Amino acid sequence: MSNNIGTIGVLTSGGDAPGMNAAIRAVVRTAISKGLKVKGIKRGYAGLLNEEIFDMDTTSVADIIQKGGTVLYTARCEEFTTAEGQARGAEICKKHGIEGLVVIGGDGSFKGAQKLSHLGINTIGVPGTIDLDIACSEYTIGFDTAVNTAMEAIDKIRDTSTSHERCSVIEVMGRHAGYIALWCGIANGAEDILLPERYDGDEEKLIQHIKDSRKKGKKHHIVINAEGIGHSQSLAKKIEAETGMETRATILGHMQRGGSPTCKDRVYASIMGAYAVDLLCKGASNRVVAYANGEYVDYEIDEALAMKKDIDDYQFDVSKNLAR
Ligand code: ADP
Ligand code: F6P
Repeated sequence: MSNNIGTIGVLTSGGDAPGMNAAIRAVVRTAISKGLKVKGIKRGYAGLLNEEIFDMDTTSVADIIQKGGTVLYTARCEEFTTAEGQARGAEICKKHGIEGLVVIGGDGSFKGAQKLSHLGINTIGVPGTIDLDIACSEYTIGFDTAVNTAMEAIDKIRDTSTSHERCSVIEVMGRHAGYIALWCGIANGAEDILLPERYDGDEEKLIQHIKDSRKKGKKHHIVINAEGIGHSQSLAKKIEAETGMETRATILGHMQRGGSPTCKDRVYASIMGAYAVDLLCKGASNRVVAYANGEYVDYEIDEALAMKKDIDDYQFDVSKNLAR
């Protein structure tokens, strides 16, 4: 591997996540400090195909480290999942002199990065998603901010839930992954946590648990429900009808994806962005930056995509024991 890269591009793709701006800033400033030119690509792969490409310098990323969202905007792009779209994307990179590309996003975005690598563009993925569902990495940009935002919101709901001696069903994000639900479940002391990876659909068991804890004198009952299970409103109605306990549903929604990133998200995203540029400078391609066993590391994208990750059984058991 050798350093023969003169210009790199950077884009954000898939769902946005707080801390993406810190990663963009690190990519731009690290690259410039190493004598590279940087092109920003707006709106992910959709913007690449539309040639929404512009020159970036150190001032382009001034005053963004503290901001949520992504200043490069993000998008989902069906056309880029086709061989024709990918070939056109690689040609556009070549036309603009982009020899290396940093893709900040989730697994879907990494699949696009992998395709560009195979088409001769040195591409590095940086894990950005609030869902924490990238198998090769114990950290993903945005999870820490999202889970803290959700935790604070749930604390507030808990106050009013306790005052009214109600049950609250609180839906947090995570269509396929229950990490936000599990972490909030533990951090907020929820009585029940419903995770897409573990839920058996047994609503009667849930209702019995609510009745039992009511009998024990609990003043509220917090059910954290992951988006992947959904139907929080109808679940709340059923709980109220069967337990007699007044029940409200709250769907936290996209507020979990916004807001100023936490210190952890700013720092980890900054280091990962810089690490991605270092990889490009070493001539690497088709790799994803990750955090594992206390270190920043990188994996071949193919290997990273083949890895599996699941909710930790011990953590889930602890959450249940603490909810008594
Ligand atoms: P995330 O990156 O957060 O997982 P998505 O799954 O929505 O988000 O993927 C983001 C974008 O990555 C998609 O809109 C598409 O442009 C691109 N992408 C997803 N899957 C593939 C694929 N198999 N091949 C090429 N590009 C893909
Ligand atoms: O992947 C992040 C995430 O926020 C998921 O938790 C959620 O299911 C999904 O994106 C929602 O995406 P959108 O509302 O952008 O379609």
